[in-house]
Amino acid sequence: MKMKGAVVLLFIVGLLTPAGSSSLFTLDYPISLYYRDSRLSTVLWFRPAYCLYELWNSDALDSSQATRQTATIEMEVKLAGDNDVYKSPKRFPIPICSPSVYQSLALGDHACEMGPTLACLNDTCTRAVLPGRNYRIRFLLYNQERTLLAATDWSRNFQTRDLPHDFRTMDVDFGGHSVGLVVLTMLISIAVFLLLGATGLALIVRPPSAFSFGSPSSDA
Ligand SMILES: *[C@@H]1O[C@H](CO)[C@@H](O)[C@H](O)[C@H]1NC(C)=O
Repeated sequence: MKMKGAVVLLFIVGLLTPAGSSSLFTLDYPISLYYRDSRLSTVLWFRPAYCLYELWNSDALDSSQATRQTATIEMEVKLAGDNDVYKSPKRFPIPICSPSVYQSLALGDHACEMGPTLACLNDTCTRAVLPGRNYRIRFLLYNQERTLLAATDWSRNFQTRDLPHDFRTMDVDFGGHSVGLVVLTMLISIAVFLLLGATGLALIVRPPSAFSFGSPSSDA
C-alpha cells in the first residue's frame, strides 16, 4: 500500500515536472576518459555511456518510452567557474552493453568526443573548448521524440592539456624547418622537371632516326 502510494506520488511529480528540468531521473554513473590520457588542448575523449540505457531501462517506470535503436545520448558540458551549460553538437547512439565493458574497451565503439566546439543548449551559439581548463560533463538519455528520460550526475573535473610554455619558439623552429624542406623539395622538383624537359627536347630535335645516323643506307 505504501509502495503504491509512493509510485503514484512519483507519477504526479513526473506530471508536474516540465520536460528538461533538472529534477529528473538522475543516474549514478561513472564517467571517465576513453583511455588514461585521451586529452588534447581543445578536445577530451570520454568512454561511451556503456549500459546507461540498460540502467535506465531497469529502473524506468515505463520502459516502453524508448527502444535501444531509437534512443540517443547527448553530452552536456560545464566549464569550471562558469554556470552556463553547453552541449556536444553531436548526439551519440546507444553503445553495446556487455558485462566486460568495465574492464576492457569494446572494439568498434567510438569515444565520445568533447570539443573542439561546444553548442549552446538553445543551438543559437557555439563556444570553443579552451586549453588548460577544467570541464565537467554529464550524459543525457533521450528517446526518439526528444523527451529527456534520464541524466547522469555531473562528472569530476577533467582538464584539457596546456599549450607548451615555449609555444612561440617551437612554432618558429618548426616554421623554419618546414620552409627549408619546402624550398629543398621545390628545387629538386624543378631540377627533375628541367631534366625531363631537356630529355624531351632532345628527343624532338633528334628523333629516333638518330639511331640510323651512322648506317650505310644514309649514304645511298
Ligand atoms: C541562447 O543561449 C545563450 C547562452 O546560454 C544566450 O546568451 C542566448 O541569449 C540564448 N538565445 C536565445 C535566442 O534564447
